[in-house]
Amino acid sequence: METESRLATLSVLLCAVLCPCVFTFSPEQIDPLLYEEQLLWVSGAQGQVNTYRIPLLTFTPKGSLLAFAEARKSVASDIGAKFIAMRRSTDKGATWSPTAFIVDDGIQGDGLNLGSVVVDEEVGSVILVYSICFHLFNCQPSSTMMVESRDDGLSWSQPRNLSVQLGVKNFAPGPGFGIQKRFEPAKGRLVVCGHGTLEGNGVFCILSDDHGLNWRNGAALKSIPYNQKKRAQDFDPDECQPVEMTDGSIVINVRNQNNYHCRCRIIVRSHDGGETLPIDDLFFDYELVDPAVAAGALQKDGVLFFTNPSNMQHRINMTLRWSLNDGKSWEKQAVQLWAGPSAYSSITSLDTGSVEDQKYIYVIYEKGHKDCYETVSFAKIHLYGGR
Ligand SMILES: *[C@@H]1O[C@H](CO)[C@@H](O)[C@H](O)[C@H]1NC(C)=O
Ligand SMILES: *[C@@H]1O[C@H](CO)[C@@H](O)[C@H](O)[C@H]1NC(C)=O
Repeated sequence: METESRLATLSVLLCAVLCPCVFTFSPEQIDPLLYEEQLLWVSGAQGQVNTYRIPLLTFTPKGSLLAFAEARKSVASDIGAKFIAMRRSTDKGATWSPTAFIVDDGIQGDGLNLGSVVVDEEVGSVILVYSICFHLFNCQPSSTMMVESRDDGLSWSQPRNLSVQLGVKNFAPGPGFGIQKRFEPAKGRLVVCGHGTLEGNGVFCILSDDHGLNWRNGAALKSIPYNQKKRAQDFDPDECQPVEMTDGSIVINVRNQNNYHCRCRIIVRSHDGGETLPIDDLFFDYELVDPAVAAGALQKDGVLFFTNPSNMQHRINMTLRWSLNDGKSWEKQAVQLWAGPSAYSSITSLDTGSVEDQKYIYVIYEKGHKDCYETVSFAKIHLYGGR
């Protein structure tokens, strides 16, 4: 008995020492497998909600996953009254809590729009930034709002009006996630990027150096002509996803609203923690063909991941790509997640230091059979083919 238990202890100890080496994978071995998929929201299925759209996904400091979406109450369009719907998973996406409506915009004509979720790992909070009255339809002005959870997504603060600090410029965060800088410059800073109205469009970032207490306006990449009506093929950077690279720079992957120069993604980089987005560093990524949509991006362990409906005209063909050289080129064997209608997507991963968490990324995306907006789907992806 005693020998057995000693042996058991010994093997546990040995495993703890040896296993990390045995099971560590290298990026060259990436061979993504769609490991598990489930629908988190189905439009039209629940009495109070007409359509679920604009899915966001994040990890939490405690290793949970939180999914959010706009629950559009009576119409499918961007304008109209909405809830923010949330579901939470504490078992790496296997099961999810029932839907909680964490914000209700009341009876506003325009209502709220998501949004960017940012995790502050230093204080253990999750912050969700969204807009209300973005389209100025039967309301004004447009406001930038924030809610915060300090208990792993279980409860949420009352909405706070960030326009008091930022001014009342129309700002639609994300959709996707914001970042907390893990590397210098500006380690610890919260960076949330989004876009303006179509006339005053462009990529704009807001910054907080005190865990979301105070916010100020940071980098701007303005459309051309700015604050004027656009024509086809004008330069019109729109919805965007920032990621921090391992050198501390921020790469922002941007929707090219009017197909300026290409039907592909605009890439821009900040070297100063989101203060500026120099035009010198802007390029068009011809490999990332795109129908002008919000896309997902993630930097995990030095590998850059990207999801979008990979088609020049239509929102179909949800595809996962990855790059081993910080986005200079993409690996040839892209993985199709869904051939049919699919639109907005967002990616996250858990990073608790465990070997298990090295193996997975999580994608949330709009998915349907006849129409992209039928469901919001959650996909767990094993990066090493199930090994
Ligand atoms: C938010 O603050 C701005 C600036 O003070 C104000 O104009 C706007 O009405 C406020 N929005 C809401 C929803 O309270
Ligand atoms: C789907 O995406 C892949 C990868 O970009 C591409 O090779 C394929 O032609 C696309 N199919 C459609 C129907 O867009």
